Amino acid sequence: MYSKLPYFIFITFFFAIQNSFAVRSPKFELKTQYEASCFPKCTCNQTTVECKNLNEIKTDVFEHILPKIWPELDTVSITGNDLGDLPNENLFGDRNRHLRLTLLDLSDNDIRSFSAETFFGAPKVQYLYLRNNEITSVGSKPFDYMPLIRVIDLTAGFAEGVSGKKKGEIIGDMLESGHHFKHLQELILNANGLIKLDSEMFCTLENLGRLILADNLFESLDLNVKCLPSLRHLDLRNNRFEIVPAFIYKGGLDLNAIDISQNPLKCDCKMEEFIKFANDDSTIFLDQGKTICKVPTELAGKGIFEIDTETTNLCQRGSRLLHWIILILIAGGCFYVYRHLRRAGKLPRMPTVFGYSQLKSNDEMNNNYNSSNNQPAFV
Ligand SMILES: *[C@@H]1O[C@H](CO)[C@@H](O)[C@H](O)[C@H]1NC(C)=O
Repeated sequence: MYSKLPYFIFITFFFAIQNSFAVRSPKFELKTQYEASCFPKCTCNQTTVECKNLNEIKTDVFEHILPKIWPELDTVSITGNDLGDLPNENLFGDRNRHLRLTLLDLSDNDIRSFSAETFFGAPKVQYLYLRNNEITSVGSKPFDYMPLIRVIDLTAGFAEGVSGKKKGEIIGDMLESGHHFKHLQELILNANGLIKLDSEMFCTLENLGRLILADNLFESLDLNVKCLPSLRHLDLRNNRFEIVPAFIYKGGLDLNAIDISQNPLKCDCKMEEFIKFANDDSTIFLDQGKTICKVPTELAGKGIFEIDTETTNLCQRGSRLLHWIILILIAGGCFYVYRHLRRAGKLPRMPTVFGYSQLKSNDEMNNNYNSSNNQPAFV
């Protein structure tokens, strides 16, 4: 019996090993195609290459993604690096092009600049994410190689030192292209400290449907509505608007969603027209509970959709006060002029009490007249 034990152990061991190979062998096959070529610490499959927090300072990782190995690649997400200036030539190396790549996520990479050539290898991209970067400049027509682009997300995309004006210019440069962004539906410019935009800024984007400008520093905004025929969704949440820009409610836009919540709205006469507009069709307004007046004090904290525009006359309230102020000023002015002239002796001493004494002086004058002529004035 004991003599069979080594044989038994050997058999068990042999089958165990054979079994484990049998289970693993399909995985080895997959690995040879995608995983074997996968950059260290990335995850890769047939359609996706995803790398988080590699802390790379060079762009080698992109050159590892060869179209020959990933002919079906549709998603590249490489985030959490310190890439600085992207090369002024194909990010994916040589003439490599990924013809099925539709989503390119380059967020959190401290990217400072890029140019058109950078994206030569990604001509079919529809979704481009450039969130949380440090952009300070771009080359001319930087998205020219991406004619199918649908969504550009530049949330917190610029370096802190870049002025609001300069950011506006860079965005303007980005929106220059030979393909006129025919497919661009959504532009996200959140959290960029933006103050001002050129009114013609979006005139190159004929099909823009969603413009997202939340978390900026806009106090005013003037956009040429003729350039935005397809705009349906406008997000101005969390800015510095006291007064809602007139282009929104003066006609010309065909919005079905608008967000002006978290702005320090000044609900006075200048806002009356807008508040009426908003209450007429409140269904298009998002975040209504957070769309509240900051001033005047009587309305502070009140939602603009709670204001009854029939009974609350925002204009009369303001103008009544104005009338009183003007009246008081005029009265004060008259009094001052009168006193001045009187002191200078340029006014006849006006009797303080009109009436009897006035009559008396008239009598005296009449008497004088009468006495000098000795004729009654009228008999
Ligand atoms: C590849 O991976 C991504 C995310 O890691 C997943 O969503 C996708 O379904 C995978 N595709 C295939 C073909 O396995």
